[in-house]
Amino acid sequence: MKTKNQLEPTVFVIFGGGGDLTWRKLVPALFDLSQDRSMPTRLSIIVVDRIELSDEELRQRLHEGVNKFSRHRVVDDEKWKKFAINIYYQQGDFKKPETYTTLKAQCEKLEKEWNAKTQRIFYMATPPIMFSEIPKFLGEAGLSTDREHTRLVVEKPIGYNLESAIELNKIFTNSFQECQIFRIDHYLGKETVQNILAFRFANPLFEPIWNRRYVDYVTITVAEDLGIGHRGGYYDKAGALRDMVQNHLMQLLCLVAMEPMVSFDADEIRNKKVDVLHAVRPIPRDEINQNVVRGQYGKGKVSKKEVRGYREEKGVSAGSQTETFVAIKLFVDNWRWQDVPFYLRTGKRLAQQSSEIVIQFRAVPHQSFPMEASIDWQSARIIITIQPEEGIVLRFQAKQPGPKVILKQVDMRFKYRESFSGPFPNAYETLLWDIMQNDATLFMRADQVEAAWRILMPVLEEWDEKKPTNFPNYPPGSWGPEAAKKLLAQEGHNWLTTT
Ligand code: BG6
Repeated sequence: MKTKNQLEPTVFVIFGGGGDLTWRKLVPALFDLSQDRSMPTRLSIIVVDRIELSDEELRQRLHEGVNKFSRHRVVDDEKWKKFAINIYYQQGDFKKPETYTTLKAQCEKLEKEWNAKTQRIFYMATPPIMFSEIPKFLGEAGLSTDREHTRLVVEKPIGYNLESAIELNKIFTNSFQECQIFRIDHYLGKETVQNILAFRFANPLFEPIWNRRYVDYVTITVAEDLGIGHRGGYYDKAGALRDMVQNHLMQLLCLVAMEPMVSFDADEIRNKKVDVLHAVRPIPRDEINQNVVRGQYGKGKVSKKEVRGYREEKGVSAGSQTETFVAIKLFVDNWRWQDVPFYLRTGKRLAQQSSEIVIQFRAVPHQSFPMEASIDWQSARIIITIQPEEGIVLRFQAKQPGPKVILKQVDMRFKYRESFSGPFPNAYETLLWDIMQNDATLFMRADQVEAAWRILMPVLEEWDEKKPTNFPNYPPGSWGPEAAKKLLAQEGHNWLTTT
């Protein structure tokens, strides 16, 4: 995946740099990278936003963010100064051509000073509404033409539905080529998520049993114990299906279900992933209710503390019908996975923060142990935990010590933090490093984004037409609505966790 170590001189432009993403994630990650890895020989960070701010004021604000959110935390002044001297602020309106001509002049000035060809990275850390404007202006200002040295970075959500995603992708490619566009899904930067490929394809042990012959079903859970925080305005228009399933959960599904790649080439891996999405069986509109469950949290108590219901959250409408929970059953129609259910679920204000993938294996073909030996018997499973603890568990049956043959479940555990001694880069560090290396392996391609929307469109359309009548339908601190359990129970399956 990684090709070069020495990065070219870089101008890193952050549009919307006065906002939360820059403060919490981007600059802390760039700072961490600067401490742990070799950064570009020359790096300038230009933050563009509408508010009035001096270079010094911006640096001070970003310093607070780095102290709070970087891995290195409270940063000594000398280190910070050395890093911050390369951060500049440019005040500008994203919808005015002058903003881009000034930016261009600044890039050229730096190139001249450095006497080197630089790579230019344009990161849209703005509200999604600007995603369709900035690329256009960059193109018109002649800032997108150098295919090798210029990149456009965009955060999810890419569109609001299939139609708007196609439209947005078209706008991007009017000014940039697909190979210049880096669409971020920060889940792909998580260590354990990347490790799914290593686990599956760097070990001869698991791949031969990773198919319909041995696997009974797969569950993918991304559960959050928190509510929606201050993001009510955005979330109430998005909901869990758009916010999490369309991107993060679909990416996890792809990594679990994809065929082995032939090489580590970015497009080879992305082709294999998009093949999975193309193989997902479409859910007909009249079967949505049997295959998809939606939910919304009400008010209640979590750890003895009263918490608000979703409809009472700031920025959320009082009668909101937005879902904060989704469970969905999918099938991947191909030779490897035909008729193996993949159950995906995600939600806010659930019992605990937990992101896990469980591969549940079939029962042994013949049970030769006496009945009393196997009262607690369960088929083997592999549990890949992404959060809060990163690791992999193989759960299988062993004989309990003693004269009698009694079978019990035991775990073989691999924990990241025990097996490796850091530094453990966070997702944004990994992704920013890859952008600077021009390595697109961990980024979403247009066709992948569109394929994921295509799968979910019948659900969105059905839900749009038939509004929920039972919201709120789960208490905070639970595992979501009862119907989510039933979705699996009707097949004799369960949501599985490490606990
Ligand atoms: C974001 C969603 O993409 O991912 C948020 O918009 C969600 O709603 C977040 O909370 C979860 O990310 P993580 O890394 O905390 O699991």
